[in-house]
Amino acid sequence: MPHRALRGFLLLQLLLTVAELRVQASRTFEIDYEGNRFLKDGKPFRYISGSIHYSRIPRFYWKDRLLKMKMAGLNAIETYVPWNFHQPLPELYKFSGEQDLEYFLQLAHEIGLLVILRPGPYICAEWDMGGLPAWLLEKKSIVLRSSDSDYLAAVEKWLGVLLPKIWPYLYQNGGPIITVQVENEYGSYFSCDYNYLRFLLNLFRQHLGKDVILFTTDGAVKDFLKCGALQGLYATVDFGVGTNITEAFMSQRMAEPKGPLVNSEFYTGWLDHWGEAHQTVHTEDLVSSLVDILSCGANVNMYMFIGGTNFGFWNGANMPFSPQPTSYDYDAPLSEAGDLTEKYFSLREAIGKFEKLPEGPIPPSTPKFAYGKVAMKQVNAVSEILDVLCPAGPINSTYPLTFVDVKQYFGFVLYRTTLPKNCSEPVRLFSLDGVHDRAYVSVNGISQGILERNKVFSINITGEAGDILDVLVENLGRINYGSGINDFKGLISNLTLGSVILKNWLIFPLDMEETVQQYLSSNEIFNSDPSNLPLPSFYVGRFSIPAGIPDLPQDTYIQFPNWTKGQVWINGFNLGRYWPARGPQVTLYVPRHILVTSVPNNITVLELENSPCSYGGKCFVEMVDKPVLDGPLPKTS
Ligand SMILES: *[C@@H]1O[C@H](CO)[C@@H](O)[C@H](O)[C@H]1NC(C)=O
Ligand SMILES: *[C@@H]1O[C@H](CO)[C@@H](O)[C@H](O)[C@H]1NC(C)=O
Ligand SMILES: *[C@@H]1O[C@H](CO)[C@@H](O)[C@H](O)[C@H]1NC(C)=O
Ligand SMILES: *[C@@H]1O[C@H](CO)[C@@H](O)[C@H](O)[C@H]1NC(C)=O
Ligand SMILES: *[C@@H]1O[C@H](CO)[C@@H](O)[C@H](O)[C@H]1NC(C)=O
Ligand SMILES: *[C@@H]1O[C@H](CO)[C@@H](O)[C@H](O)[C@H]1NC(C)=O
Ligand SMILES: *[C@@H]1O[C@H](CO)[C@@H](O)[C@H](O)[C@H]1NC(C)=O
Repeated sequence: MPHRALRGFLLLQLLLTVAELRVQASRTFEIDYEGNRFLKDGKPFRYISGSIHYSRIPRFYWKDRLLKMKMAGLNAIETYVPWNFHQPLPELYKFSGEQDLEYFLQLAHEIGLLVILRPGPYICAEWDMGGLPAWLLEKKSIVLRSSDSDYLAAVEKWLGVLLPKIWPYLYQNGGPIITVQVENEYGSYFSCDYNYLRFLLNLFRQHLGKDVILFTTDGAVKDFLKCGALQGLYATVDFGVGTNITEAFMSQRMAEPKGPLVNSEFYTGWLDHWGEAHQTVHTEDLVSSLVDILSCGANVNMYMFIGGTNFGFWNGANMPFSPQPTSYDYDAPLSEAGDLTEKYFSLREAIGKFEKLPEGPIPPSTPKFAYGKVAMKQVNAVSEILDVLCPAGPINSTYPLTFVDVKQYFGFVLYRTTLPKNCSEPVRLFSLDGVHDRAYVSVNGISQGILERNKVFSINITGEAGDILDVLVENLGRINYGSGINDFKGLISNLTLGSVILKNWLIFPLDMEETVQQYLSSNEIFNSDPSNLPLPSFYVGRFSIPAGIPDLPQDTYIQFPNWTKGQVWINGFNLGRYWPARGPQVTLYVPRHILVTSVPNNITVLELENSPCSYGGKCFVEMVDKPVLDGPLPKTS
């Protein structure tokens, strides 16, 4: 480069740097303690935010959902970062495709939404193990969410990967992130370990610098704030409709005598559990509570603004053991499928009384299409294709091993042994509640019954000495809240037959995703006689998108009339669990981006208990254009 040009270049560089610094200097986000408010670029600012978890919305729809949130009058969104979604194995990190957090932040920024980021490391969220990776349990005695040295080492490594990616997206650095939450409702956890919170505070500061506001969130009760709050982290509270707002904010004031009032989780609806009534929150109550909160000048984040879906195996569970269903609709203002609801428009109107609503059209609800019935065919029993489901072969162990022991974290593991004695008269098989979480038991392929955590601890078995006893154990989702988050799966205690401890197990970790891929290339490769297959079994079916109708494919919902319980994939995409026999969820959301028009779409179903096909019933699943999330519950519950 000629000398003069070089000098010009250096001058330009210098000017750019100065300009950059000036931009950064003008971008500030701070707490004004005296004014009891936030200051954005030096001016008073209040956020009206909504929760959206990118891990529960297909990337395909991120932009649509964010635009709808913007058009509701929100100026910010809030999202969790689920650690186990990004670091599924100790040495494997995922940050692309559905895991592309940076793209999600970029979209929010382009749409003009600020971001409240909640990177955990623990998040609760009705998400498997509260977002903590199950491989942490490889140290059996680990004390999660504490100063346990192995836990801290894993956290330090993870945040050392995550937080540097976050740094450029901080408001001060030109991005959308205004505040970052540390941990989550830590005050409701038993360990009350200030050293752990201090460790996190230092780690967050080390990676994110001194300017960003770090905060905590706890239930609006004095006792929770005692262990949840820490000097250096701004304390906020969460509460829903029906709470006395004055009292709730008084509890925040005990931890923060000055500064902005913040409700970090104002509940627009509530979560469901299998077998319990569908939860809702009335729109009028919600709106009047929101108006009261905003009238106090408080900041608010509505949890959830859109709930989305627990695709695959991602749902969590509560204690006493009670897993959450596939839908995380939450009765939120945007439905699971992103549809505009009456609640959405009422909230928007209420927000409009406090803030200027953005101009322009609201993106419409996406159309749904009823593709109708799809005939299903039973193709293989799980027990006959173990070589496909478990190509590495079984693990031989005297006593049962857990999922973590065999490095299988989700789905299913089959435990096989032989009957040590004749059971020509029924003999009791006892689990001592060591089945986590549900076991489908058969002898020589003949179903004997189901053991279920917290519900069914023993069943009768018949068979002869030497017969094959199969115990297929399903992980229904790990506990995400409270003292039970060390949730080991599989057979976590011995099974006994009468008084005899069963021994010499062959343990098959089952790779469902690979098997489903094989069905996609050909659905009859396994050549079984489908006339008399035992369950659990795989079923396949195909449907084509009708020609001549504009704008197909569209979203749809799949339902399972007279089926019982299982897992469903469409074109290899794991949609989640269905369990109409338990309810209340009846339909599963099928986003259109997984459907194709060029070739037939393939449905793969793993039915665990009973399908209409096996008793001469009509053997089909059905695609409809309306969701049913409040279906019937079993009469006994
Ligand atoms: C809320 O609590 C405050 C303080 O305890 C009390 O004065 C007020 O009457 C309560 N409001 C309602 C609606 O119960
Ligand atoms: C399992 O291991 C034991 C002890 O090594 C052995 O006796 C038995 O044959 C093995 N079983 C199978 C099915 O490999
Ligand atoms: C089990 O019963 C069968 C016949 O039902 C008999 O032949 C066999 O000897 C019995 N085995 C044991 C171990 O008792
Ligand atoms: C189990 O078998 C025993 C006889 O061995 C019988 O008394 C009992 O009723 C059976 N229980 C069930 C639930 O079938
Ligand atoms: C099963 O019983 C054996 C013998 O009592 C014991 O050593 C082992 O720890 C038990 N296994 C489990 C998973 O409880
Ligand atoms: C569905 O399966 C058929 C038969 O194996 C295959 O030809 C087709 O490509 C599959 N469709 C998709 C979308 O994978
Ligand atoms: C489901 O089963 C019931 C009772 O067996 C039957 O009457 C009904 O027609 C079945 N429904 C479907 C959709 O097959």
